[in-house]
This record gives sequence, C-alpha cells and structure tokens, in this order.
Amino acid sequence: MLAYRHAFHAGNHADVLKHLVLVQVLRYMAEKDKPYRYVDTHAGAGGYLLKGQQAQKTAEYREGINRLWSRPDLPPLVADYVRLVQEFNLQPGEDGVQPVLEKGMTPPLALYPGSPSIARQLLRRTDQMRMFELHPTDARTLAAHFGGNKHVQIFNEDGFAGLKGQVPPNPRRGLVLMDPSYELVGDYGKVIAALREAVVRFAEGVYMVWYPQVSRVESAQLPKRLMALSPKGWLHVRLTVSQPGERGFGLTGSGMFIINPPWTLHAQLKEVMPFLVETLAQFDGASYVIEEQPA
Ligand SMILES: C[S@@+](CC[C@H](N)C(=O)[O-])C[C@H]1O[C@@H](n2cnc3c(N)ncnc32)[C@H](O)[C@@H]1O
Repeated sequence: MLAYRHAFHAGNHADVLKHLVLVQVLRYMAEKDKPYRYVDTHAGAGGYLLKGQQAQKTAEYREGINRLWSRPDLPPLVADYVRLVQEFNLQPGEDGVQPVLEKGMTPPLALYPGSPSIARQLLRRTDQMRMFELHPTDARTLAAHFGGNKHVQIFNEDGFAGLKGQVPPNPRRGLVLMDPSYELVGDYGKVIAALREAVVRFAEGVYMVWYPQVSRVESAQLPKRLMALSPKGWLHVRLTVSQPGERGFGLTGSGMFIINPPWTLHAQLKEVMPFLVETLAQFDGASYVIEEQPA
C-alpha cells in the first residue's frame, strides 16, 4: 500500500518549480491550433486543502507558494503561475459560476491546485487529458472532479506501465508529465525504463520529469541518465533551497528535466530562477542550475 500522500507537500517549493514550468510548457503547447494529448502519469488528487489536517501537519506550503502569494513584485512568468493558483482559490458561487479574479485582488490562500487542475485551466476544449493515479482515494477524488468529459480519461493504474498505451497520441502531438513520489527507490529506474520506451514510440513528444534533490545516488544520477535517452534536445533546471538536516536527509530542492522543451523555455527560466532562489531560499547557499542541449 502506498504511504505517500501529496496533500502533505502541496504548494511546497518543489510544487512551485514544477508547476511554474508546467504552466509555461502548457502555454507554449496552446500556441498551435492543433489539439494535443496531456498525460499525467502520477496525477495525485488534483487539488488540496491547505487548511486540511494533512497540509497543516507539515505546512510545507508556507515555505513555497505562501512566500509568493501577495508579493507585488513578481516577475511576469511567476505572476502568471500565481494568478492561476489564485483563480483556483476562487470557489464557484451557489449558481455554479466561477467568479473572475479582479485586478489587484488577492484571495486568501486556502487551496492548492495539483497538476491536473493547472492543466485543466490551460487545455483547450479539443485537447485530451489522460491521468494515472495509483492511490484509490486520490483516484476517486480525481474521478469526482474530472470525470464525465469525453476528452478526459482517468486510470486507477500504474502510470509507468500505462504510458506506453498513450503514446503516440492521435493526433500526433503530446505532453507528458511524469511526477512520481520516489517513495520506492525503484521509481528512479522505472522513470528511465518508461521514458526509454515512450521516446521510441513517440520521439517528438514533450516529456517533463520531476525529481527530488535528496541525498541519494539515484537522484544525483537521474539527470545524466535522462540526457542519455533524450533523442534530440533537452533542458534541465534545478532549484536548491536548503541543506540536508542533521542526519543527512531531507528534500533540499528539486529538478525538472524536459525532453524536447519549447525553444522559449531556457530564456524564460533564466529570467525567473534568480527570483525563485531569492524568494524560496532557506539558507545562504540556495542556488539554481539550468543546462540545455538545443535540438
Ligand atoms: C508527487 S505526487 C503527484 C502530484 C501531482 N503530479 C501534482 O503535481 O499535483 C505522486 C503521486 O503518484 C501516485 N503514485 C505512486 N506510484 C504510482 C504509480 N506507479 N502510478 C501512478 N501513480 C502513482 C501517488 O499516490 C501520488 O499521488
């Protein structure tokens, strides 16, 4: 049985990096008229109550989204992501209508959207959504919020194994987010195996992999292993916010590795990463890395 629940971590520094990059890639995908398929191999519950018991227990969002929430000086790309999270915090009224976020308005931070909700905000009516979530409770929550749409399919199944059935999509355009919990050390190898197979089937797909920066050799080696299987271009960004605890453990940062990234992404990240380092730092040595192999 899986012990990991994303509700404990929702909105932390790792979600900020992951979702900020996701927003920019989704926006890029929407620039072309042709519909595409979004595949979330580890979707989570889709949204989280920050005042709920689980999020309050660790309150990781306080060192993440909370540090960005009401800052008036956000760089435009950070403001774009924060605005989407703010819109998610506007609950539909009794009439079911979603209120509009007025300029200058900052709702209280009570909810944090998971990757499926962020994607839903930016997918068009004709784009397809495929979500895998192994935890039965989270999969049920997803189904309750996303089901009943012919463009959306939700699988309470293993996303590593399910990916190959989703690529290549028809029409042949797609974006995959692979965001495992790495609760089991075998996940690192499964990321590589699943992507190796997927890029053979669909070399032109855009693949985004999140990984934790922790004191494990598997985590340190993952970017190099991903570079080796990328058919053409790739981009790697890592944000380090803290140092390991006394016993040498802890999530000190995280990275995103993108296969076939939008050509615009490198310049966008160069613009925002210094701000994220400054804003999310928990020690003096906070830093970032961006490296890329253009296609
Ligand atoms: C880091 S969370 C996902 C968060 C989500 N992508 C987001 O950004 O909001 C990882 C999720 O993967 C689920 N999970 C773990 N192993 C899985 C597997 N093999 N296939 C699908 N889901 C899995 C966990 O239950 C957890 O909800």
